[in-house]
Formats: sequence, structure tokens, C-alpha cells
Amino acid sequence: MARRPEEFTRAFSPERMMLSDISEVVALEQSVSPTPWSKTIFTDCLKAGYECWVLRSPEVFGYLIFASAAQESHLLNIAIHPDSQGRGFGSSFLEFAISLAAKEGADRLFLEVRPSNSSARALYQKKDFRFLGRRPNYYGRPAKEDALVLSLEFKPD
Ligand SMILES: CC(C)(COP(=O)(O)OP(=O)(O)OC[C@H]1O[C@@H](n2cnc3c(N)ncnc32)[C@H](O)[C@@H]1OP(=O)(O)O)[C@@H](O)C(=O)NCCC(=O)NCCS
Repeated sequence: MARRPEEFTRAFSPERMMLSDISEVVALEQSVSPTPWSKTIFTDCLKAGYECWVLRSPEVFGYLIFASAAQESHLLNIAIHPDSQGRGFGSSFLEFAISLAAKEGADRLFLEVRPSNSSARALYQKKDFRFLGRRPNYYGRPAKEDALVLSLEFKPD
């Protein structure tokens, strides 16, 4: 399939998510997640002061959210538009979150992922995330599944 011209010029340049981005973020979330977050959840993340970032071109084609507390950062969501997947954006965005979380003083970044999400699991494995445990029935309907909890330690114990 022919690609739109702007897809060749997309660059990695994270910007802070704004309230005006949320409708595009929600549309993207609906295209990639079996249990998509609502507009309210994204709005609450922004209002709570979580680290909320987007990639624009000029439309939003990626987003990432993490929260930090007590030396721990929690990656809550990351996605790249299907048209732009497989070109290194997810990898660069994750590295961006890791370096920001470390600068903010976190000792580690942890996250949950579906066992069935092989592309995300491959990405985390490539970045040296380690298996911490399993949260039974973490993901609800319509795609019920346990979560694998993975963690990347920034500082050795
Ligand atoms: C996970 C996601 C963010 C990766 O973004 P991306 O831009 O495609 O990732 P990259 O191009 O940087 O690829 C990084 C690595 O991820 C893995 N990967 C990416 N796509 C893959 C695929 N289709 N199959 C297997 N591994 C894949 C590979 O290890 C890849 O490294 P490599 O290119 O050296 O082999 C993207 O697939 C996505 O948005 N998925 C839907 C939302 C989601 O599942 N988020 C994670 C929730 S925990």
C-alpha cells in the first residue's frame, strides 16, 4: 500500500501532551488497544501532573505516560500509530522515558504488559527489562488476561 508523504518525514521529537491532543490520543488508543483507555483517564493523567508526552507530525502518532513516586516510575501507557510502528519510534520513546525517569531520581521503571503482546514484550526485552511477577486477571473484559510485571533497575541494590 502506498504511504502518505508525511509518513516519510516523521521525526522523533517528543512534546508535552496538551488537553487539545486528547481526542487524537483517544482515537490512536482505540486503534491499538484491546481495552482502550477513555478520554477521562487521559485527562486525569494530565491533571495529576503525570509525565504525558506525544509525538506529532503534525497529527499525534505516538504517546507515552508515566508516573513517578517514591523513587519508582511506572510506565502507564505507550503507543505508536500502526502506520509508524517498526521504525524505531517506540524504542526511542521508551529510552526517552527511561532517561527522564532516571533524571527525576527514580531507581527503577516498572510496567505491566499482556503476555499476548509479543511486540511490546520484545521491545521491553531488548531494553533489558526483567520479569518481576504476574498480576492475575489484571486486564478486564473484553480481553481478560493476567499482566506480566517487568522492571528496569537504574541503580544496583
Ligand atoms: C509496542 C510498540 C509501542 C512498539 O513501537 P514500535 O515503534 O513499533 O517499536 P520499534 O520500531 O522501536 O521496535 C522496537 C522493538 O520492538 C520489537 N517489535 C516491534 N514491533 C514488533 C513486531 N511486530 N513483532 C515483534 N517484535 C516487534 C522488536 O524487538 C523491535 O526491535 P528490532 O526492530 O530491533 O527488532 C507498538 O507496537 C505499539 O504501539 N503497540 C500497541 C500499543 C501497545 O501494545 N503498547 C504497549 C503496552 S504494554
